[in-house]
Amino acid sequence: MTRDVVFRAFNRRQILAGTSASAFALFGSSPSAFSATPKNIVVIGATAQSAPEIIKQGLAQGRKVTALARRPEAVGAQHANLTIVKGDVREPATIEAALKGDEVVISLIGPRVDPRVELESMDLYTVGVHNIVGAMRKKGNKRLMVTSSIGAEHVVTEKPKSTELRDMWLWNGRKLYADMAAMEKMMPSFGLEYVILRPGFMIERPAAHNLKLAIDSTAPKGSGPIITFADFADFVLKAADSTEYVGKAVSIFSDQKTEWGKNLDFDAMLKMREAQGPMENGPKAARK
Ligand SMILES: NC(=O)c1ccc[n+]([C@@H]2O[C@H](COP(=O)([O-])OP(=O)(O)OC[C@H]3O[C@@H](n4cnc5c(N)ncnc54)[C@H](OP(=O)(O)O)[C@@H]3O)[C@@H](O)[C@H]2O)c1
Repeated sequence: MTRDVVFRAFNRRQILAGTSASAFALFGSSPSAFSATPKNIVVIGATAQSAPEIIKQGLAQGRKVTALARRPEAVGAQHANLTIVKGDVREPATIEAALKGDEVVISLIGPRVDPRVELESMDLYTVGVHNIVGAMRKKGNKRLMVTSSIGAEHVVTEKPKSTELRDMWLWNGRKLYADMAAMEKMMPSFGLEYVILRPGFMIERPAAHNLKLAIDSTAPKGSGPIITFADFADFVLKAADSTEYVGKAVSIFSDQKTEWGKNLDFDAMLKMREAQGPMENGPKAARK
């Protein structure tokens, strides 16, 4: 994996990925691994950029969807089978209240951070998953899908010599990646059916059906990190119903490589991120 691929800032509108729709659908599941009836889901972090597609596709497949968000008013979807609840993974009772006991729980939680500024601390993933698991145990839920990232498997420990933003982000965000990595390590100890999702760089484009998966390993040959929200959602929902990925960390790539300034626009990404809400590590401090 190249270093630029783990730059997790993103933008839903302005990133022009130039994605070819040449489809080689690469996640090779045997049909028998999937259950016939789509499982109901609880999406935690339902205002995440990746949430709308999961909610939309999940509802279209006939699932009941519960969307848990700190800002339920920002979920922006309505459907007879969609329940939107206010919740915070730092408040365990709010998670418990959102669960019935038979759903697959999908966590999309993550911090909104400015990649130009060093993160002082990060425990959202480890604390969050601990509280989610506590709530699941109380309600009887069996399957948890957590979202980490490509790059979480090797956290940077030395400050890069390059001052390129994408290199600095690995350094500035190393506590975030360390927290993701710690969450990943915790997963087997919970005794649940778990799936670790490690998406690449997600963008808003039509589904390209070009995912390349790596199970418990690094990037497949010839892959790139750019994946669409639509393809990510499609995979997440398939994996929710499948036994194929249980107990595994699935790195999600595509056939699209990153070309900064060509198919990805850092400034546009940052503006979009700032518009979504305050950065946890302080946007003002980042101004040059
Ligand atoms: N997007 C990418 O390209 C990409 C790439 C690699 C990995 N990832 C990871 O994949 C996951 C989903 O990505 P994303 O871009 O869709 O996420 P995102 O847009 O960064 O949204 C993160 C979500 O987590 C929520 N959240 C934060 N703290 C919370 C708390 N204490 N309780 C409940 N919810 C909380 C946020 O709520 P608020 O809206 O209230 O802040 C938001 O809904 C994240 O873990 C992200 O780091 C994303």
